[in-house]
Amino acid sequence: MKTTFLGHELQSPIIVGSSPASFGADAMIRCHEAGAGAVVCKTINRNAAENPDLHMVVAGRETLMNCEKWTDFPMERWLDDEMPRAVAAGVTCIASVGHGIEDSRLCVERLEEIGVMAIELVSYTDDTVLPMLEDTKRRVDIPVIVKLSPNSADLMGHARRCVDAGADALTACDSIGPAMRIDIETGKPFMGGADGCGWLTGAAIFPFTVARIAALRQALPEVPIIGLGGITAWQDGIEFVQAGADAMGLASAAILHGPGFITRMNARVDAWCAEHDVTDLAQIRGRVLEHLPVVQEDGYEMCFDFGKCRHCNACVTACAYAARSFDEGGFAQVDEALCRHCGLCVSVCSFGALNLSKGQVI
Ligand SMILES: Cc1cc2nc3c(=O)[nH]c(=O)nc-3n(C[C@H](O)[C@H](O)[C@H](O)COP(=O)(O)O)c2cc1C
Ligand code: SF4
Ligand code: SF4
Repeated sequence: MKTTFLGHELQSPIIVGSSPASFGADAMIRCHEAGAGAVVCKTINRNAAENPDLHMVVAGRETLMNCEKWTDFPMERWLDDEMPRAVAAGVTCIASVGHGIEDSRLCVERLEEIGVMAIELVSYTDDTVLPMLEDTKRRVDIPVIVKLSPNSADLMGHARRCVDAGADALTACDSIGPAMRIDIETGKPFMGGADGCGWLTGAAIFPFTVARIAALRQALPEVPIIGLGGITAWQDGIEFVQAGADAMGLASAAILHGPGFITRMNARVDAWCAEHDVTDLAQIRGRVLEHLPVVQEDGYEMCFDFGKCRHCNACVTACAYAARSFDEGGFAQVDEALCRHCGLCVSVCSFGALNLSKGQVI
C-alpha cells in the first residue's frame, strides 16, 4: 500500500532503519527493490567506525544484540558514491547523521543536494541533538527527523523539546540496553567489546516500542512518527500504526530474514487492509487512544469454543490458581471460586478457543 510521509509518496509504509540492512548503496537498493517505502542509511559520522569482532549476536527468539557503532565508511564515500548511487537507483533515502553538530555541519547540505528525502539526526540528549537540529534546520529545506532513544529518562520531555526546536518528525525508537548474554560453557560474554554488553533489538523490545509510540502520539498528536523497534511479523506493523505510527520501521527483521521479509510483510499488510476496508493507514492510526484509559467492563464472561480447542492443555498449565480443568467430554471448566480473572489462560491459547465474548459460556 502506498502511503504519504513528510509530503512524499512512499511505495509502502515500511521504512528500513539504520543498520547493516542499509550499510551502503547496494544494501539500500536491495531493500528498495524488495518494496521498502524508504531506507535510512547506516549513520554517517565524520570518522569511520571501527567495530570489535563479534559485534552482533542472537540474544533470544527473533532478537538481536549489537555493539556496532555507526558506518565504517568514511563520510566522503557516502557523499561521493554510496548516497548518489542509492538516489540514482530510485531509493527514497533518509540520511542518518550522528552524533554532533561537528558531524552534521559537514554533510547535511551535500546530502540535500544529492537528493535524500530527509535527514535523520541521531544523538540522544538535549545538549547534543538540539544544537545539531537547530543548525541543520538552518542549512537545509528538506525535513529533519530526530531519532529518540528509549533509554532516555525523560523521553517525552526530550521529544517535545525536539519538536519545539523544529523537528519535522520523530523516529521512535532506537535499541534498548545495555544488555548482556553469557556463554555458560566458557563464562565469557557472547558480545565482543570491552564491557561485553550490547543493545537489544527485535522481538524482545516490541512491546516497549508500542507503549512509547502510543505515549508520543497522545502527547504530540500532529507529529509524524516512524515506529521502529521490534517488528518481526507483519501484524507488528499494523500494531505500530494503531499505536499511532505513520510508518513501520524495521531493522532486525531485514537483517535476520533478508530484504524478502519486506516483500512478504507488504503483501500481508495489504491483504489485512483489504479485508478490513482500510484504504489509508490514517483510518486506523492511533486507534488505541480511543480505548485509553482502559475501561473496566462489567459482566465479564469466560467463553470456550469446543470446535477450536486442540486440547493442548496450555491454559490449564498456565493457571497459577489451578482454576482451569477439562471435564470428561473435553469441555473447559473454570472454578469461579479460584479464578482471579487475570486473563492469562485466554492469552496463552494459540487457537482462539478461549475468549471473553463468544462461544459457549463456561
Ligand atoms: C546491528 C545493528 C546496527 C545498528 N546501527 C545503527 C546505526 O548505525 N544508527 C542508528 O541510528 N541505529 C542503528 N541501529 C538501530 C536500528 O536502526 C533500530 O533502531 C533498532 O534495531 C530497533 O529496530 P528493530 O527492532 O526493528 O531492529 C542498529 C541496529 C542493529 C541491529
Ligand atoms: S489452550 Fe486453547 S487449545 Fe489448548 S487446551 Fe486450552 S482452550 Fe484448548
Ligand atoms: S483467568 Fe486467570 S485465574 Fe482465571 S482460569 Fe484463567 S488463568 Fe486461571
